[in-house]
Amino acid sequence: MATPPNILVTGGAGFIGSHVVRRFVTKYPELRIVNLDALTYAGNLENLRDIEDAPNYAFVKADICDAKAVEQVFQEQAIDAVIHLAAESHVDRSISDPMAFVNTNVIGTVTLLNAARGAWKDGDAGHLFYHVSTDEVYGSLHDDSFFLETTPYDPQSPYSASKASSDHFVRAYGNTYGLPFVISNCSNNYGSHQFPEKLIPLMIHNIQQRKPLPVYGKGENVRDWLWVEDHAAAIDVVFHKGRNGETYNVGGHNEWRNIDLVQLLCKVMDRKLGRSEGESAKLITYVTDRAGHDLRYAIDAGKIERELGWRPSITFEEGLDRTVDWYLQNAEWLEHVTSGAYRDYYQAQYGQR
Ligand code: NAD
Ligand code: TYD
Repeated sequence: MATPPNILVTGGAGFIGSHVVRRFVTKYPELRIVNLDALTYAGNLENLRDIEDAPNYAFVKADICDAKAVEQVFQEQAIDAVIHLAAESHVDRSISDPMAFVNTNVIGTVTLLNAARGAWKDGDAGHLFYHVSTDEVYGSLHDDSFFLETTPYDPQSPYSASKASSDHFVRAYGNTYGLPFVISNCSNNYGSHQFPEKLIPLMIHNIQQRKPLPVYGKGENVRDWLWVEDHAAAIDVVFHKGRNGETYNVGGHNEWRNIDLVQLLCKVMDRKLGRSEGESAKLITYVTDRAGHDLRYAIDAGKIERELGWRPSITFEEGLDRTVDWYLQNAEWLEHVTSGAYRDYYQAQYGQR
């Protein structure tokens, strides 16, 4: 596609969105990046402090379910393309409050699609609706196979069902109205600025505080972990080179059983905190399993590697090392996001520990 000047990034104040916004604002000064975010518990403008004064960056506080507000942004900011990341993103929250996921992930996505359709009346010239999705739409693996772009959808949690639904709507708008789109489905991300309700930052935080490390079930569930900046690089390449109507799977070739990953984190943290080896691992506590807990996710990223030349740039050891260092050096960020509402969530999810 021709290079579009005004890019709407939704959810840019969140974990992955903030890495995408930073990458685009700094790497492409010729593009204008409009970050639309409702600033839910997961959205934090502190994540973007270093680029907030850049001349090619603007922030709009709005809810993607608010059709009027979204249409206004498309008009006033002359939006040419969308990178849609805004979502409710945590499986445990989707189990306790599925409607929030239906609202933001399904209705919010359709609201954005309608706004794009209304604004882009001149066919596909220079326009693109890029939907950032998850590998969880493919369901749970119980053998040693991998998710391909052709794997049938089989979502198992309210979160993955809402993301699968939003993927279907994006494809339906492409098929029915000719809306130009791409979708990528990525495996679990880790890195700086991730809200500490997700496994890796939650464990780093608890190890540091000498709090119990809640491993669900037997800890045998497997996830494929990708460094968030490598995901942002994949989004960059799909945005610029992805073919209209295509889906690209993104993953790290990096599968870990939860218990092995938590043990590794304990080891890394023992070293960094000057604790004796094995000290932090004593905090591991097996807790009641997540309802409907998906056993294994694993991505075959061959298509994006072959067709677009993307590959993860660093090893897991390197990424984990950088991530732990970031959390240890940014205690203030962690303190801000773990106050108030987060403490209430933690209490409800894990009880008094
Ligand atoms: P996140 O929860 O850290 O951030 C979500 C952002 O969306 C926040 O800034 C929040 O304020 C904003 N938001 C939520 N509801 C909104 C609404 N109604 N209107 C406007 N903004 C709203 O999420 P994340 O982990 O950065 O994930 C970003 C996207 O990537 C999501 O679509 C998610 O499904 C997808 N994804 C995440 C992972 C992962 O491992 N985190 C993996 C693959 C795909
Ligand atoms: P999570 O980071 O919530 O990502 P997802 O569920 O989207 O894969 O969880 C990663 C894995 O870690 C998942 O198998 C659930 C498990 N887990 C725990 O064992 N304990 C925890 O406290 C959390 C948050 C997750």
